[in-house]
Amino acid sequence: MISTRHSLSDFTGLTPLSETTTCVDPQAAYRVLRERWGQVAPVELEPGVPAWLVMGYPEILHVVRNERLFARNPLHWRLLSDGVVRQDSGLGPMMFPRDNAYFADGVRHRRLRAPLDEGIAGIDQHALVRSLQATCRDLIRGFAERGEADLVTEYASVIPMLAVSSLFGISTEHGHQLRAGLIALFGSGEDSQEGNRTFERILTEVMQSHAASPAKDLTTAFLTHPNLHDSDEVVQSIVLMISAGYETTTSWIAQTIRLMLTDPRFAGRLHGGRLGVDDALDEVLFRDPPMANMPARYALADTELAGQPIRAGDALILGLGAANADARMHTDDPWLETGNRSHLAFSAGPHTCPALDPSRLITRTAVTTALTELHDLTLAIRPEEIELLPSPWTRCPASLPVRFVASDVPIVEQEVSHG
Ligand code: HEM
Repeated sequence: MISTRHSLSDFTGLTPLSETTTCVDPQAAYRVLRERWGQVAPVELEPGVPAWLVMGYPEILHVVRNERLFARNPLHWRLLSDGVVRQDSGLGPMMFPRDNAYFADGVRHRRLRAPLDEGIAGIDQHALVRSLQATCRDLIRGFAERGEADLVTEYASVIPMLAVSSLFGISTEHGHQLRAGLIALFGSGEDSQEGNRTFERILTEVMQSHAASPAKDLTTAFLTHPNLHDSDEVVQSIVLMISAGYETTTSWIAQTIRLMLTDPRFAGRLHGGRLGVDDALDEVLFRDPPMANMPARYALADTELAGQPIRAGDALILGLGAANADARMHTDDPWLETGNRSHLAFSAGPHTCPALDPSRLITRTAVTTALTELHDLTLAIRPEEIELLPSPWTRCPASLPVRFVASDVPIVEQEVSHG
């Protein structure tokens, strides 16, 4: 239904955005919003802070490909400049401006983005997979003889941080500390600002030690890149790479393992351990993408989107999870749906995620190693009992309790396919 109201602030009694991430069936929540508002719905980010949730696939493409009308820089957010969003808001770490590509537009974005693209293109994928397999097996050795484990806290949430940290020459110990800081940061709760400070303190130390003794890693590559003009831009670019890669990849690993353990289409293939992993990876990106709701773009002028009155300074949230289920993008023919990778899990346009390849490598290696090494793996709770981390943006499982055949036999080193 098209609204007769004139601006976001006219709406009252709005649905909190977190209802779409904390419920069992997010598509049902998006459906309710669509039926009431159409493809673009007013929602509440936190009490008194409304924003538009863009749920239509073409509408999201229109927004992300049109940066002259929809900017990334939160300095254009009216509720932030008016002081409606408090400085200590839990939304801060995800939505307050920083000196990195994520929050920049146009020429400045391209300057800050180039070191990220070049750094990712330079990753030695074979070395990454080898070190990932070693990390995965180390973690599995830590719980293999128990016959039970939590595959989120003891596995999925550790791997992305250690993998991306290692690309920057960050120690395992610091990697674990960064992880604790990030969990608070992404929760957008009361402790999120503190988590953010821990995160920045560790990274500043790492950068200073690399400045004193350069190494062959991404920290040194960023420090010496001509596009990054000062130490703040370097630290913030590292913050971006590590934070963008952490919870997203954790969620992708956990949701893929959940799917393979619970959905009969995948569960039957488990014993071989390898077949079907890529299908499961793609299905998760479609049905439960790691960034369900992506903050944000800010309108630079008054406009209209799917019949809604967008005013200059309004925030728009990309409903990537909703857009993937947009009926206009699907057919009834299962053959056309199979292998379909046209999801928006990585978004699109100039800010599209630069890490499609490494994040798939990390996720596939983590899932495949768990399925290969943990025999007779089953979920220890009912699928609907899986709790999610509190966040309006992601649907990352807080835990994934599993059982398997206990083993104290050392795991044999063998190549796990990553092709
Ligand atoms: C190694 C893992 C990853 C790294 C290092 C990484 C890095 C990044 C970076 C640097 C950006 C900001 C790009 C820019 O603003 O120009 C970004 C954006 C994004 N990433 Fe990733 N990412 C990773 C994994 C993932 C995963 C697994 C997903 C979800 C499937 C994901 C989804 C996104 C999305 C949706 C955006 C925002 C795009 C937008 O605002 O339009 N990322 N990522």
